[in-house]
Amino acid sequence: MRSGVDGCKFLDFPGHADDRGALTFMESPKDLPFDVRRIYYLYDVPAGRSRGAHAHRALEQVFIALAGSFTILFDDGVKQREIRLDGPRKGLYVPPMLWRDLRDFSPGAICVVLASAGYLESDYIRDHAAFLEAAGAGQR
Ligand code: TYD
Repeated sequence: MRSGVDGCKFLDFPGHADDRGALTFMESPKDLPFDVRRIYYLYDVPAGRSRGAHAHRALEQVFIALAGSFTILFDDGVKQREIRLDGPRKGLYVPPMLWRDLRDFSPGAICVVLASAGYLESDYIRDHAAFLEAAGAGQR
């Protein structure tokens, strides 16, 4: 699997829609590249505020805009990539070792994150300079 910002990959989830409304579903390993061990969501994000500002050493994640839309800016230490998520039928797979900033949340946006492991503070890199150092070491 590709790493760095090119390793971010859109996932199209299966679903069903009829006159009763819409349904989207996903199962691993068919629709998700890892077994989901944790789910969290961001909501009530005030206009103009951003989230994230960290990287993960080993965690894999899938981001979904369950409602509304938001932008994620990724940096792998060499390349940057900006992706806007805007619908519940689509997920974004995010590999480890990517710095991310989430911003420009639309009013009422809900960002659901599926994660490959439980919460582990030691998996976070919260200092950008330390991230660049670790990312550079990974590429040497
Ligand atoms: P933080 O990493 O600042 O959120 P974000 O990445 O969205 O900006 O997390 C805020 C707080 O919540 C922090 O004290 C850690 C805690 N937290 C958990 O306990 N479990 C979790 O699964 C997550 C994502 C955060």
